[in-house]
Parts: sequence; structure tokens; C-alpha cells
Amino acid sequence: PQKEEDHTSKAKAPMDMLQLSCIQIAIALLLFTQAKSTTQDTSALHPDDAIPSCVAIERSALLSFRAGLSDPGNLLSSWKGDDCCQWKGVYCSNRTAHVVRLDLQGTYCATEDWSTPVLGGNISSSLLGLKHLQYLDLSCNRFDKIQIPDFIGSLHKLKYLDLSDSMFIGRIPPQLGNLSNLQYLYLVSSTWNVGYSSFYNGTYSTDITWLSGLTILEHLDMTFVNLSTIVHWLPVVNMLPTLKVLHLSDCQLRNSPDSLPVSNLTSLETLDFSGNHLHKRSAPNWFWDLTGLKNLHMSSSGFYGPFPDEIGNMTSIVELHLSYNNLVGMIPSNLQNLCNLERLDFSMNNINGSIAELFHRLPSCSQNKLKELSLSVSNLTGSLPTTLVEPLRNLSWLDLYGNKLTGHVPVWIGELTQLTVLDLSSNNLDGVMHEGHLSRLAMLEELTLSDNSIAITVSPTWVPPFSLGIIELRSCQLGAKFPMWLKWQTHVMSLDISNTSINDIIPDWFWTAASSVAFLNIRNNQITGFLPSTMEFMRAEVMDFSSNQLGGPIPKLPITLIDLDLSRNNLVGPLPLDFGAPGLEKLFLYNNMISGAIPSSLCKLRSLRSVDLSRNNLNGSIADCPVNESSSNMTDLSIVNLSFRNNNLSGEFPSLLQKCPRLIFLDLGHNQFSGALPAWIGEKLSSLSFLRLRSNMFYGHIPDELTELVNLQYLDLGYNNISGSIPRSIINCTGMTQTRDNDDLRDAFTSGVYSAGSDLVDYTENFTVLTKGQERLYTGEIIYMVNLDLLILWERSLKKSALL
Ligand SMILES: *[C@@H]1O[C@H](CO)[C@@H](O)[C@H](O)[C@H]1NC(C)=O
Ligand SMILES: *[C@@H]1O[C@H](CO)[C@@H](O)[C@H](O)[C@H]1NC(C)=O
Ligand SMILES: *[C@@H]1O[C@H](CO)[C@@H](O)[C@H](O)[C@H]1NC(C)=O
Ligand SMILES: *[C@@H]1O[C@H](CO)[C@@H](O)[C@H](O)[C@H]1NC(C)=O
Ligand SMILES: *[C@@H]1O[C@H](CO)[C@@H](O)[C@H](O)[C@H]1NC(C)=O
Ligand SMILES: *[C@@H]1O[C@H](CO)[C@@H](O)[C@H](O)[C@H]1NC(C)=O
Ligand SMILES: *[C@@H]1O[C@H](CO)[C@@H](O)[C@H](O)[C@H]1NC(C)=O
Ligand SMILES: *[C@@H]1O[C@H](CO)[C@@H](O)[C@H](O)[C@H]1NC(C)=O
Ligand SMILES: *[C@@H]1O[C@H](CO)[C@@H](O)[C@H](O)[C@H]1NC(C)=O
Ligand SMILES: *[C@@H]1O[C@H](CO)[C@@H](O)[C@H](O)[C@H]1NC(C)=O
Ligand SMILES: *[C@@H]1O[C@H](CO)[C@@H](O)[C@H](O)[C@H]1NC(C)=O
Ligand SMILES: *[C@@H]1O[C@H](CO)[C@@H](O)[C@H](O)[C@H]1NC(C)=O
Repeated sequence: PQKEEDHTSKAKAPMDMLQLSCIQIAIALLLFTQAKSTTQDTSALHPDDAIPSCVAIERSALLSFRAGLSDPGNLLSSWKGDDCCQWKGVYCSNRTAHVVRLDLQGTYCATEDWSTPVLGGNISSSLLGLKHLQYLDLSCNRFDKIQIPDFIGSLHKLKYLDLSDSMFIGRIPPQLGNLSNLQYLYLVSSTWNVGYSSFYNGTYSTDITWLSGLTILEHLDMTFVNLSTIVHWLPVVNMLPTLKVLHLSDCQLRNSPDSLPVSNLTSLETLDFSGNHLHKRSAPNWFWDLTGLKNLHMSSSGFYGPFPDEIGNMTSIVELHLSYNNLVGMIPSNLQNLCNLERLDFSMNNINGSIAELFHRLPSCSQNKLKELSLSVSNLTGSLPTTLVEPLRNLSWLDLYGNKLTGHVPVWIGELTQLTVLDLSSNNLDGVMHEGHLSRLAMLEELTLSDNSIAITVSPTWVPPFSLGIIELRSCQLGAKFPMWLKWQTHVMSLDISNTSINDIIPDWFWTAASSVAFLNIRNNQITGFLPSTMEFMRAEVMDFSSNQLGGPIPKLPITLIDLDLSRNNLVGPLPLDFGAPGLEKLFLYNNMISGAIPSSLCKLRSLRSVDLSRNNLNGSIADCPVNESSSNMTDLSIVNLSFRNNNLSGEFPSLLQKCPRLIFLDLGHNQFSGALPAWIGEKLSSLSFLRLRSNMFYGHIPDELTELVNLQYLDLGYNNISGSIPRSIINCTGMTQTRDNDDLRDAFTSGVYSAGSDLVDYTENFTVLTKGQERLYTGEIIYMVNLDLLILWERSLKKSALL
């Protein structure tokens, strides 16, 4: 963004001339050697130029710098040939040919794709050879957790330095304070795990007095730098009278003085101090005196008390962010004074007043400047006003999610023709929305109305003016007919029309319209019809079609698919021989009429974690993974939760399970399995917490090895032909005697296989429970069973025997 300038002073000109003639000689020599070699790469040379294009000493400095780097993506492949001024990211002065700018910003910050190749390795002090460097950008790379080198502080001509987000660690060198020409300093620490764990610490500073050496600094960004030990940071910042933009968010600062007696910060326009947990009243506070501020970011700051009247004095403010605090009560009426306001975010506070009152306190002097209004989860009550409140007219973003709004959605919403995002979800709104609400919203990209009682009633021939990316209408009333207007929404990323009372056949066009959708949820309707014959043309990552009446066989899946839930439908036919979704992690097909055998293609799903095929008509024995597909690679499957219950599966205890060492939850109940329980259970399934084999034809003794399952908390062998005595070593199943929660098993119930509501009930049959020798009947929900001291089910085939 910086204009490239050459500020070499005239006094130095003779020196430059002298250097130039040396360079001309150097270039001539290079040309000579080049001519001798057979290399054809002479395009970088500009023999006609009056000024030679690269200073040899700087060229070799660059090459030494490059030698210290790792460059797996070969991003610096253009760094060859003589004219270093032509190399990627290298910019020279037109007049002196000195390298003045080095811009090696990596791409991953923009793409957020960790697999994008970037630069790494070490930063060689040979950079000091670039004596005229004014601009250095190494941001968004991945240096090998090295410290920012001290010598950067000796690049004394630097005006612009960006070392953000490049995986630097350790102390920020105070030598940076020697860069007295610096106007822009960006030191954003990488955000890996910050706040979540100490796995990666990023950069820190325990003393920032060095900043005061940067006397003409205008932009400073130290987001995520750990400054937790610094108390008196404000007097240091106050030494920077030219500062315009200051980002000190998430710096673990604890201190925010009430006032700043003599403020130097008269040029400050942007202050971002969010994410520092101050735990104080929002006023008094030093920054309220900076009435020239345009952008104030104070989210997640731990402020409490009322919304302060001081807000009304911030008459220059354009953006005001106070979300995620504990501010209480109506916003002050002098907010009316903020005639430049464009963005207001008061989300996640407790405004607990009426929305109409709040709207009337928005500035009306602003001539429709207000663009974004975010008031989610703010305890707002009442109905939306029946007529348009003028300050809202040019809104492009309206977020009222998670309040207590009641009444209808007024038709004036349809006059907000600039709207791109409308989120009214999770309120108590009702009534009908029709074409009048929507037909002029041509810019709309996100329509989120979920979890209200809103009915959306439009003509089946209505063609919307917008092309939405996000459609979230969960639990609205769309049916009974399938909403035809979705046909025109062909660029949707996320579509949720679950629980919307649709009672109709799924139209063919739906699959084409939805082919770009990544998150697709139509669960809990009465949708009939068939899945398409293949889903290979779709790009879904998550598909939830559960609890409908879809029929037909399961087609080949989108190659991108990760989560699939087709449970509770009328699907028939065999499982696909090729699922077509190699990254599949969740496969829920329970409660259908799927028949045939379990195909060995399951073995190709290496990421599969949760599988529920229960309550189908699957039969046959379960084949082991074919040798050529799995054994040759000897990699195990990733399955954690597996249920085949209530099918007609037969054969021995599946040997396939030997390849599932991560299994925690296994239910083979209500099938025709037979044979003896294999001794390898103890060794191969050592993580098992839940084992249910009820209602099969297993026979023989309980193998001693079963008692090696030290994490076992639930064992149900009832209704088999198992005989003999209980191994004494059952005492070693300490999982049963521990009272602590098993997080993995609980996850299996709450977020994994058995989260789907009523299936939970299936595990709340009456059991006989032995607890420390006492027998009692347990009828609670399974979720609590993981806390029981000891739980074993012995029914019919096993004589109850004294155990402890
Ligand atoms: C240097 O040359 C480039 C390309 O001719 C030109 O775009 C740029 O404005 C010049 N810079 C200066 C400072 O003259
Ligand atoms: C960076 O320096 C360290 C220590 O000198 C060395 O072990 C490492 O190999 C260097 N990395 C590269 C990419 O040269
Ligand atoms: C650079 O800064 C360091 C630490 O602040 C200081 O000790 C050193 O003298 C400075 N070097 C120059 C050349 O100013
Ligand atoms: C992070 O910092 C803590 C305390 O300063 C230290 O104990 C820990 O080893 C550091 N972790 C890493 C990965 O550097
Ligand atoms: C920040 O630094 C302090 C003091 O060195 C340390 O105790 C704390 O763990 C650090 N925080 C993080 C998130 O690394
Ligand atoms: C204001 O900034 C100047 C220049 O850095 C400094 O000399 C002065 O002490 C500062 N004033 C205060 C009150 O910090
Ligand atoms: C707003 O500014 C005026 C004039 O500077 C001042 O008198 C008043 O106390 C300020 N109000 C608040 C609430 O800070
Ligand atoms: C919302 O307001 C009600 C009534 O004033 C209050 O009892 C409740 O605690 C508030 N909720 C939140 C999350 O602040
Ligand atoms: C908002 O909450 C505050 C503090 O709990 C309470 O005093 C006030 O009456 C509430 N206002 C409304 C409108 O519920
Ligand atoms: C075997 O594993 C390697 C590495 O995990 C993988 O690249 C290769 O495609 C696998 N081969 C087969 C046949 O699955
Ligand atoms: C429990 O395990 C320990 C260690 O593996 C073993 O020595 C002991 O015999 C086992 N107890 C019973 C009752 O099998
Ligand atoms: C469970 O046992 C209780 C008490 O004996 C009985 O009332 C109830 O009907 C039983 N439930 C089932 C599903 O068998």
C-alpha cells in the first residue's frame, strides 16, 4: 500500500555516482562470464539502460539471505540471473538502482490455507547488505520458530516493517527502537493456539520503552504479542505523537488508566484494544478523551456497568465495537450525536430494553451513513417498529440474532435495499414474510431466520432478485410445498431448511441448485422422492437428510463429503460398492431398509470415525478388509464409534475389528452373530468403553482377555449362549470402578453416534446393575451411566454371581 519513494539526499549523489561506475564494471564482467557460459537467461539484463539495474553487492546479499531460507514451494525461482531488480519481491530505486524495497509477504494469511507454500528457515544477517532498504515485508510466512533477529534494528533506513504472522517466537528485540525512520510497524504474533494452550507462545515483550525511539511512527500493530507483564504501557505509547493507528488487541494487558492527563495522541484515529481482559467499569477510561477517534475497538475487554455517556462525545466516530462485554441497560440517548457513525457493534451485552427504543437512539443526523448494526445476544425485547426508522435506511448488515424480539417482521425490511446480511434468528418472531419483504433486497447474500415461528409464504412463480450464499431457515414454516424460489439460488454455500414443515416430493432441480452447497441440511421434514442416481457432481461437506421419507438406494457420494446423515428415511438397496467420498468421517444410515452385505469398500474410508448402520436389513457375515487395500499398507481404520445393531448380520465376531484399535463404542446387538468371543478383543480393542453384544448367538466362555479392557464401562452380553463363570480378573476392569467421566464415551453419546435424540432411549432399557455387590434396577439415561461405579449386565445366559 505504500508509495515507493527514493529519499536519497542530494548530498550523497557523488558517492552514488562512484558506486555506479563500479557497478557498471561489475555488470560488464558478469556479461562477459555470461557470454562464455551457454546459459540463455539474459532476458533480465538491460544493456540499453542508462543505469545498470542491480548493485552487485546487494545481489549477493540477497543470495546469501535466500540461502538461509527454506523455500519448499520454490517461490523465489525468479531469483537468478544478474538483474536482482527483476527478481520477485525486489524493488530498486529508479535513480540509484539500490534495493529499496523487499516484499516477500506469504500468501497464507490471505488464503488461510496452511498448505499454501511459504518461506521458512532462517533470516540471514546478510540483509544488512541492503543499506538502502526502506521497506521490508516478511509477513505471513512460517519461519522455524526463530526469534526476530536483533540486526533488523540496524536497517536504519526502514520506513515500513512488517513481520506479522510468521511464526516468530520469543522476545521482540528492543533494537527495533533504533529504527527512527519507521512509520509503519506490524508485529502481529502468530495466532496458533493463542489463548487455548501454551503449546505455541508466539512473541512477547516485557519492556516496550524502545517504542519511544520511533518518533515518527504512524501505524503500530502488536496484536497477540504477549505484553502481560507490562503495567505502564500507556505512557510509552503516549510518546508517539504521530501515531494514527494503534492495535494492541489480545496482548494480555491488564491495565487501562482512567485518564491520560497530557495526551500526545491527538493524531490517533484507530484504537484497537479488544481482547485485553481489563475487568473494570467502562468509564472513566483514558480513551474516552480521544474524541477525535474514528475507529474504536473495545470488544471482549471485560467492561461492566452501563453503556457510558462518554460515548456521546465521540463525535468523529465511524466504527464503534463494544461487543462481548458486560454492559447493561439502554444505550445512551446522546448516541444521537455520532453523526459519522457507520458501524455499531454492541452484541453480547445486556441491553435489556426494547428494540424500538434502541432504534430511536440511533443518530438521525448521519444522513443514512449507518451501514452495519450488530446487536446479537443483547437481551433486546419488544417488537420491531411498524414503520422504518430513518437511520436504518442504508443498512447493509443487520444482525439481531439471539434476542427476545416478538411480533411480526415488518414490511419495511423490504425497503432496506442495501442489505447484504439479515440475521433475525433465535428470537420469538412470528407472522408471515412474503415477496413484499424480500423482492427489493437485490444485494442480499445472507438470509438467516432460523428458530422463530416465521412463515415464508411466496408465490411458487416468484423469482428472487438476490443470489444468496447463506440460507438458514431452520424451524421456519416453508411447507407444505417444496419452496420453488430455491431453484434460483445456485451459489449457496450453506443451506439449512430443516424442520420447515415441507411435505412434498423433492424436485429434480434441487440437486442441481444445491450442487455448490457445502453445508446442506433438510432434516426433519416429510420430504419424499429419491436421491439422485449419483452425487458426484455435488460439493457438499456436510449433508443431513435425516428424518424424511426419501427412498431409493444410496448413490455415489460427493467426493468432498465429510459428514453424512441419511438416518430415518426409507432408503433401500445395498450399500454402494464405492462410496466415492474418501474423506468421510461420519456415516449415519440407521433406521432405513438398506439390505445386502456390508461392502469391503468401508475399508477405504480411512477417516471414518462414527458409523451407525443400525436398524436396517443388512445381512451376511462381515468380510475382513481385502489384503490389497489395507493389509499391504498396514494402516488401521479410524473408527471410534460403531453400531450394527438390529440387522441380520451373521458369522463370527468380525475380524475386521482387529483393524479398529481406536474403537470406544461397539454395538453388535440384535443380530445373528455366533461363535466364541475372540481372545484378541483385549489386545486389539484396548480403548473399548462400551461393548454391547446382546441378543446374538455367541457361545462359550467369557475369555479372560476381555478383562484386559481396562476402560470398559458398559458390558452387555445378555441373551446369548455364553456360559461358565465370570473371570476373577474382571476386577482389573478399572473403568467400571472409576467414577470419573469418560469424555470419549460421553462424546459418543452426546455429539456422536447416539446424539440423535430418541436412539438414546434404546439404551435406557431396564438393566440389572451390580454396584459394589449390591444389586439394583437402573432405569436412568445412558448418559449418566458412565458415572456408575460398576455396571455389568448379566441376564438369562449368565447366572448372576457374587462378584465382589
Ligand atoms: C520507477 O519506474 C517505474 C517503472 O518505470 C515507475 O512506475 C515508477 O513510478 C518509477 N518510480 C519513481 C520514483 O520514479
Ligand atoms: C536455521 O538455523 C538452524 C541453526 O543454525 C539450523 O539448524 C537450520 O538448519 C537452519 N535452517 C535452514 C532452513 O537453513
Ligand atoms: C540499538 O538499540 C540497542 C538497544 O536499544 C542499543 O543498545 C544500541 O546502542 C542501539 N544501536 C545503535 C546503533 O543505535
Ligand atoms: C511457553 O511459555 C511457558 C512459560 O513462559 C514455558 O514454560 C513453555 O515452555 C513455553 N512453551 C514453548 C513451546 O515455548
Ligand atoms: C505470557 O507471558 C507470561 C509471562 O511470561 C506467561 O506467564 C504466560 O503464560 C504467557 N501467555 C501465553 C498465552 O503464552
Ligand atoms: C509527547 O511526545 C513527545 C515526543 O515523543 C515527548 O517528548 C513528550 O514527553 C510526550 N508527552 C508526554 C506527556 O508523554
Ligand atoms: C463531553 O465533553 C464535554 C466538553 O468537552 C465535557 O464537558 C463533558 O464532561 C463530556 N462528557 C462526558 C460524559 O465525558
Ligand atoms: C436479560 O434480562 C433479564 C431481565 O432484565 C435478566 O433477568 C437476565 O439476566 C438478562 N440476561 C442476560 C443474559 O443478561
Ligand atoms: C435491565 O437489567 C437491569 C439490571 O438487571 C434492571 O435493573 C433493569 O430493570 C432491566 N431493564 C429492563 C427493561 O428489563
Ligand atoms: C499407503 O499409504 C501411503 C501413505 O499413507 C499412501 O500415500 C498410499 O496411497 C497408500 N496406498 C494404498 C494402496 O492405499
Ligand atoms: C490384574 O492385573 C495384574 C497386572 O496385570 C495381575 O497381576 C493380576 O493377576 C490381575 N488380577 C486378576 C484378578 O486377574
Ligand atoms: C422398567 O422397570 C420399571 C420398574 O420395574 C417398570 O415400571 C417399567 O415398565 C420398566 N420399563 C420397561 C421399558 O420395561
